[in-house]
Amino acid sequence: PRLSMSVLSVVVSLLLSGLLSGSARGRSGAEEKLWETLYSRSLARNPWEKRDISQDRDYLTGIKRLRRLYCNVGIGFHLQVLPDGKINGTHNENGYSLLEISPVDRGVVTLFSVHSRLFVAMNIKGNLYGSVRNECTFRETLLANNYNTYESVAHPAMYVALSKTGRAKRGNRVTTAMTVTHFLPRM
Ligand SMILES: *[C@@H]1O[C@H](CO)[C@@H](O)[C@H](O)[C@H]1NC(C)=O
Repeated sequence: PRLSMSVLSVVVSLLLSGLLSGSARGRSGAEEKLWETLYSRSLARNPWEKRDISQDRDYLTGIKRLRRLYCNVGIGFHLQVLPDGKINGTHNENGYSLLEISPVDRGVVTLFSVHSRLFVAMNIKGNLYGSVRNECTFRETLLANNYNTYESVAHPAMYVALSKTGRAKRGNRVTTAMTVTHFLPRM
């Protein structure tokens, strides 16, 4: 949600009055940052400019998406993380296939199964497993067909993949040319 301009101007004038009354000397680094952000946003001359700044900030501070990752192989499967840490596909939507996709860096996300409370993780052999620790990040790349690929950041060239029977495929046995690595984020 974006701050309305009226809220922004109130905050800016509050900051300004603090500045003028001499309390500015005590401002922390965080306050300086906030000041800079609000100031530059209030200066944005047109809606495009404002939107760019806002989007960039939202992205970097981590707007989470709640999605299912659909892979169009076999009868079609959603990636699911079962409570015991097993990862495979499920044709029908269920709680275990509901994933929180959180950006941690530009184009890099974590995948967290809301119901099993486990993160999608990949080991050095390319096997997927559910982890209680937030230990694995994935590079999310948008393909021309609107599907995404998820490449392990720790193990480059290894991708999240499901076989046509709905089993997890090892990340080092696949390439992005294969549909098994293509996932459509669905609401
Ligand atoms: C996924 O794993 C569960 C638990 O082992 C199993 O019951 C289910 O059939 C598997 N799904 C597929 C598509 O293999």
